[in-house]
Amino acid sequence: MESKQAQSRFIVLLGAPGAGKGTQAAYLEEVLGIPHVSSGDLFRENLRNETGLGKLARSYMDKGELVPDEVTIAMVKERLARPDCAGGAVLDGFPRTIAQAQALDEILAETGRRVGIVPYIKVPDDVLLARLAGRWTCRQCEAVYHELFNPPKIAGKCDVCGGELYQRADDTPETQRRRIEVYFQQTTPLIEYYRDRGLLVEIDGAQSIERVQADLLAAIQSGSQS
Ligand code: AP5
Ligand code: MG
Repeated sequence: MESKQAQSRFIVLLGAPGAGKGTQAAYLEEVLGIPHVSSGDLFRENLRNETGLGKLARSYMDKGELVPDEVTIAMVKERLARPDCAGGAVLDGFPRTIAQAQALDEILAETGRRVGIVPYIKVPDDVLLARLAGRWTCRQCEAVYHELFNPPKIAGKCDVCGGELYQRADDTPETQRRRIEVYFQQTTPLIEYYRDRGLLVEIDGAQSIERVQADLLAAIQSGSQS
């Protein structure tokens, strides 16, 4: 019983750029008490620290292309091996290719764990662009805001840590369009990958942030009891 509960705590959030993965993962981290593991945030941390991985990742991120599987998988594997992920994690932005999904299955299987549920946050394309255009992100803690839909209490300052808010370098109109194209080409096959394994749950992501939160939590809670 206990091991089933532990297995089901690996939650993979699927959805296009701007669907709300980061927004919802931060909420789930708080209510479920398991860490939010975002491959995009890990790459941005490497960019800030000017590591070799950061320099490599930047050349792909700035164009809206995926960072190669090999380095992405190694980075996430190292993160999932840390003690705070022992009981699960909310994965945001990983996996993004079939090779990454297979690698994730293998990484978890090495310690007798597996993906428990895959909420797919569905949002129409025109809504995605409006969301990305108004997004502001905290430089320190990566909390996500929107100038209209989810504004910070004080303009330009993070509610969580007081950090400075900025607009991501890959949120130019051209790069946004490319990221959405890449998502349709390389990531949407994961919808069938997880549907075939009985793990996919569709969530209407065009609703308010609070309604998406409620639907996600209900899906996760009913999934962990089955
Ligand atoms: P990543 O950082 O993962 O970006 P992304 O997938 O393009 O997704 P976003 O972060 O843009 O969107 P989100 O779904 O998190 O939406 P958010 O919650 O912010 O990846 C960046 C790059 O890194 C990639 O392009 C690639 O180069 C590289 N990379 C990362 N992972 C990789 C991997 N696995 N393999 C290879 N390369 C990888 O919400 C968006 C906005 O909408 C916010 O302003 C928010 O406030 C607002 N909002 C959210 N929900 C709602 C709602 N319900 N109603 C109204 N507004 C809302
Ligand atoms: Mg994000």
